[in-house]
Amino acid sequence: MEDKLKIVGGTPLKGTIKTQGAKNAALPVMAASLLLKNATLTLENVPKLKDITTMVDLLKVLGADISFHDHKVSISVPDSISWETPAPLVQKMRASSLVLGPLLAREGRAVMPLPGGCSIGSRPIDLHLKGLAKMGASIELQHGAVHASTKGLKGCRIYLDFPSVGATENLLMAAILAEGETVLENVAREPEIVNLADSLRTMGAKIEGEGTGVLRIQGSPDLQGGNVRIIPDRIAACTYILAGVISDGEVTVSDVIPQHFDSLLAKLEEASVDVSFDGNSVSVGPSRKKLKAISLKTLPYPGFPTDVQPQLMAVMSLAQGTSVIKESIFESRFLHVSELKKMGADVELQGNTAIVKGVNHFNCSEVMATDLRAGAALILAGLATEGETVVHGMGHVERGYENIEVNLSSVGAKIASDIGDEDG
Ligand code: UD1
Repeated sequence: MEDKLKIVGGTPLKGTIKTQGAKNAALPVMAASLLLKNATLTLENVPKLKDITTMVDLLKVLGADISFHDHKVSISVPDSISWETPAPLVQKMRASSLVLGPLLAREGRAVMPLPGGCSIGSRPIDLHLKGLAKMGASIELQHGAVHASTKGLKGCRIYLDFPSVGATENLLMAAILAEGETVLENVAREPEIVNLADSLRTMGAKIEGEGTGVLRIQGSPDLQGGNVRIIPDRIAACTYILAGVISDGEVTVSDVIPQHFDSLLAKLEEASVDVSFDGNSVSVGPSRKKLKAISLKTLPYPGFPTDVQPQLMAVMSLAQGTSVIKESIFESRFLHVSELKKMGADVELQGNTAIVKGVNHFNCSEVMATDLRAGAALILAGLATEGETVVHGMGHVERGYENIEVNLSSVGAKIASDIGDEDG
């Protein structure tokens, strides 16, 4: 895909989009393969995305042998691997920090430059480091890199000050090879954590409590390879559902686990959207003209996901009345607001709260995706706009959506990457 996407909106979308596998579940499970020695972990339903390729490259540099075909990734990890992660790969993506726990646990040391990722806040990894230190690691920061070492991690009780997804994953993976029992309290309960725990169990780990606020892990040094399946991507599913709503169309997303995005479905029902279910599919009916304003606050799972806040804001910009959207997970996750305003949205920011007054329509504009979900929000806005919208910065969107252009076209969107400058 080129870096810009042109959308000629105003057409109600109609049809079914099959949901991709979850990027945020695949990345930690791939990192977990590093706990293995002379064994192979195979993941099915892995989306073809830039972030996944970054993780493949990182694991290869560390010494793993990897094949990635037809949404299947096989990772063979030898007896001996490197423990130093290269800055260019780690700085491409924050999720690279997920290799820290497994590396430290198996090699007794790890060097990792501080990670990068979307520009949606400072996003420190202090909770990861504090937890690893409590398990017996010595941690130093030298020239912007974490240097961690241990003579052997020891099970202990760790209370997370905030249920961080990444910290829960890193500490869960480290605890698998620690001596004795680790109890992690106030952990994240996201479906991606459950997918990771299930995968680790397939590898022979002893874990209880995934999906609750407390994880209990018994250290188990004898792990084996196996096959695991990645869950459907709830954030991609929500984005496609919202594409149906904002275009006033009738869209079904298939291959989903609807309970994973109950919070969005509840909000849509509150906003007068017609939502229906059929097994692993969710459909929305034409609803835009009767959309009512709603209020919401982003929260850790099962609360409303921060990763859907920008997309829902685009939709609420066209609702009747005033919506109040509070972002409580990231401190600067409103980078899409200035771009939505360029398109005619009426949004006022008061600290971490956005006051969104519904308008009748968006105007044709050229806008910039500053991060992954901001890009998704702008594409949704473009789908509702009569005439042409150009979204620049599609590189961010490619990090999280597999074939978004093809998927939206398949349900009737007039959309193309860099269709050229016909006007010269
Ligand atoms: C994961 C998701 C991301 C999602 C986020 C919240 C992946 C690959 N990414 O990111 O899409 O938006 O969960 O649902 O799964 N924090 C600290 N110290 C830490 C760790 C986190 O202060 O050590 C803060 C962060 O700055 C942020 C908040 O906690 O403000 C949430 O971060 P976290 O839950 O860790 O998100 P990620 O794992 O980075």
